[in-house]
This record gives sequence, C-alpha cells and structure tokens, in this order.
Amino acid sequence: MSSYPRIASLKNTDAFRQHLIASNIALELDDVMQSGADAPLAQKYTLPNGFVVGNRFAIAPMEGWDGEPDGRPSELTLRRWERFGLSGAKLIWGGEAVAIRHDGRANPLQLTAQPEFLREFIQLRERLVNAHRAQFGRTDDLFIGLQLTHSGRFCRPNDKKKLEPMIVYRHPILDRKFGVPPDFPLLSDDDIARVIDDFIAAAVFAQRAGFHFVDVKHCHGYLGHELLGAYERPGKYGGSFENRARYRREIIAGIRAHAPGLDIGVRLSAWDFVPFKPGKDGIGEPEPCEKPYRYAFGGDGTGTGIDLTEPKKFLDLLASLDVKMVCATCASPYYNPHLMRPAMFPPSDGYQPPEDPLVGVARQVNAAAELKAHRADMTIVGSTYTYLQEFLPNVAQNVVRTGKADFIALGRMVLAYPELCADVLAGRPLARKRICRTFSDCTTAPRNGLVSGCYPLDEFYKTRKEARALAALKGK
Ligand SMILES: Cc1cc2nc3c(=O)[nH]c(=O)nc-3n(C[C@H](O)[C@H](O)[C@H](O)COP(=O)(O)O)c2cc1C
Ligand code: SF4
Repeated sequence: MSSYPRIASLKNTDAFRQHLIASNIALELDDVMQSGADAPLAQKYTLPNGFVVGNRFAIAPMEGWDGEPDGRPSELTLRRWERFGLSGAKLIWGGEAVAIRHDGRANPLQLTAQPEFLREFIQLRERLVNAHRAQFGRTDDLFIGLQLTHSGRFCRPNDKKKLEPMIVYRHPILDRKFGVPPDFPLLSDDDIARVIDDFIAAAVFAQRAGFHFVDVKHCHGYLGHELLGAYERPGKYGGSFENRARYRREIIAGIRAHAPGLDIGVRLSAWDFVPFKPGKDGIGEPEPCEKPYRYAFGGDGTGTGIDLTEPKKFLDLLASLDVKMVCATCASPYYNPHLMRPAMFPPSDGYQPPEDPLVGVARQVNAAAELKAHRADMTIVGSTYTYLQEFLPNVAQNVVRTGKADFIALGRMVLAYPELCADVLAGRPLARKRICRTFSDCTTAPRNGLVSGCYPLDEFYKTRKEARALAALKGK
C-alpha cells in the first residue's frame, strides 16, 4: 500500500489544497460549487460544427470486454451504455473502443464495426438515448460519438491470453516486454493502406447507425498512437512529421468523401513516457532506456518528461483538416498505467504508484490546458478526473470556468456512480459511498479474462459469478 494520503481523509477543500501545496502539485480548484443555470458545468457549449451541447460533462470511452464473440454488443454492453445515458453528461465521447475489423480487436469480446451488426449498434445508441430522454426529458442537446480503433501492437482478437501484434516499428522495450521476436514482420505500407480503408468503412457504418461523430482513436499505444511515434519507421508512414501524419490525413479525407456530414474527433495520447515496471517493493519505476528516448510522441527525450511541441503541431494539422474536437489523454494502460489512469490500488498487472496519483491528474489537466491555450478555436475535452473523488466537482468547475478545457470526461467514476454528473449539476451532495476509490477491479477483471465492471460498488456486478472469481484471484 502506498503512503500517499487517501482522498477521503482530506476533509474539505482547504485540507485538499494544503496537501497540494505541501506536495508541490499544481492543480487549482473552486471552493464553492455552483448549481443552477449559471453554473460553469451547466453551461451549454457550441461545437465548431454548430451543434449545441447541453452541459460540460462528457463520458470517456470505456469498454467492458463484454461484447458477443462475433463483435456485437451484449446485454452487459447495453447496460453500460444505458448508464452513460443516465449520467446526465451531454457529450458521449465514443462510448467505447470498437474495432474496425476482426484482427484489430484488443480482446476477443471487443465490439466490431461490421455492416451485419447495424441493427445492434442502432439499438446500442438508442438504449443510451432513451435512458437519457426518460431521465432528463430531452436529447436534442446530447452529442454522441463512436470510438473506432485498431489495436496494433496490442491485438488479441482470438484468444484473451494470446497477443497477435501488428506493429509498425520495432520498439526495444515493448518488443521485449510483450515477447515480439526480432524478426517479427512490420505492417507494410500496403497493410496500413488497408487499415485506412477499413477505418473509412467503419465510419460509414457509424454514420448509418446514427452517431454524430467518430473518434479516430490515437491513444494508449494502439495503432494510431504507435504511428504518431513512428520516428524510426522508413517509408511514407514514418520518420518526418508529415509522413507520420499521413495515416490520419488519409483516414479523414476518406471519411469526408464517403460519410459526408459525419463529424470527426480524435482521442489523443498527447504525450507519453517510457514503459514502467515494478521495482523495489513493487513500486513502479521507468525501464532503463537509451537517451534521447525516440519512441514517445509528446515526450522530451528523457523518457519521463513532456514536450508538447509536436502534439500542438498535430492539433494544427487536425484544425487544417477541419477536425476540431480533441479528447486529451496520455500514455498507455499496457506499459505505464499510472499516467493515464492514476489509482491508489494498481490492477493485477500493474505496480504500486511511483508518485502521488494526484501528480498524474495534475499532469494531464495541465497538459490539456496547454493544448487549449494553443488552440482556443478547438474543443478540448480533458480526461482523468476520477482520482479526485470528493474534489472532482471542484477541480472540474475550476477547469471549465477558467477555460482550461471545454468538457470534463469521466471514466471510472461513471462505472461506479454514473449519476454523479446529474447530482453535481443539481447541487445535490455527492453519494460518498458510491464514489470510485480507484480499486482497479474494473481493470484487474479483464486482465484475467473476466468482463469489466465496478465489482466493489455496483450491486449488479457484486452479485455476479465473476465477482467470486475476482475475489479468488485477489486472494480474498
Ligand atoms: C474499464 C475501462 C475501460 C476503458 N476503455 C477505454 C476505451 O475503450 N477507450 C479509451 O480511449 N479509453 C478507455 N479507458 C480509459 C478511460 O477512458 C479514461 O481515459 C481513464 O479511465 C482515465 O479516466 P478516469 O480517471 O476518469 O477513469 C478505459 C478505462 C477503464 C477503467
Ligand atoms: S472497480 Fe469501481 S471503484 Fe474500482 S476503479 Fe473501477 S470503477 Fe473505481
């Protein structure tokens, strides 16, 4: 167990601020929460395309490793989307990662965008919309996207235990860590061109299913993200910034041509660090690496520092292609999870936090703010607020009020307590027993082949047989 103070032990905003100051963590918060029509988080927001979104809460994409084996949504998937609708958030950033084709799935139960599943994906969206309408009365201000992905290096399409990687360059640390042999073939430029075609087809599918936008995923170590960092790849998709940008330029042009009117967003790992591993006492430490470290998009070359020069250039490129919605995240759950998902309790394949998880939250909040300052004309959605727990609303309100981001996307908190958004907007006190305490069961379960869900706090999962299997795994 880490020695950092638990958030629940910090009794009020003063105590929380004192802790931030004492720990030298640059994070601002509002002491007084506003509710009602004038509250910052309740403000409507006009997207670059003119759509007016009803408030400033967003739902971060979250898959459940719980689709049907053929790639259709299951009843568990439908339930999760229904809860996204019940949250009160008016921007649904992608729902969850949906593979553009079978071999690009991150697990054998990941949803797949296939023409024969059109009816099921319409139902999935409608389940969310209907729940939202029943609870909040209107849906004309609810903006919904579908996240499209190819899992690249982290494909496990057929067997949850077997990686079937599709890599675009050799990575000295990740190849070793994930058992990719030195002679393993790289995706050819033609292979990448076929992925681009499949992305475009999946976007057409999403439009037919009624989604307002697609998120062309560029985060968390998957293919789009790996291509952004393909500094060492020869050929037309690697090396120079222009070459590394070609993949999304071609995807975006194809979507414009084949799905006119469909909006496009990008979830971006805006920066990355070297992979981490458990060190002494199980505490995470960076893998040794050659300097300058050449594999981190948005990295400063040290392996553990940020330089947003290229990510800003990437935003400029997106804006020039009229893609003006970006959801900022970072790094990867596979090799440095404490960065993108700060937690007090690590998942089973993780390590004890090497820093106060609040440092990780602040890093992301401040990086998103730097991107917003660079492109005031773009919609920036910030991620990674769950670890703030009781103080999530105070930081979120401050961020939106001071224009550091336009939307606050919630991940784990929504699995535990989806109505938090509605409670904050209505000025109701938080239901403290439902607050996500970052136990990481929603990650430990899928890492061990079980469906994801909030086993500790969601009654529905508490009583499932998987909860017993998980408890046995954790040695309870
Ligand atoms: C169970 C689970 C599933 C996730 N699935 C996705 C996903 O499909 N796509 C994605 O971009 N991020 C995914 N994430 C990352 C979240 O969107 C989010 O960035 C991360 O949890 C940090 O936000 P939080 O602090 O609010 O949880 C997932 C996270 C969790 C815990
Ligand atoms: S299992 Fe529940 S409490 Fe634990 S991190 Fe996930 S959402 Fe939070």
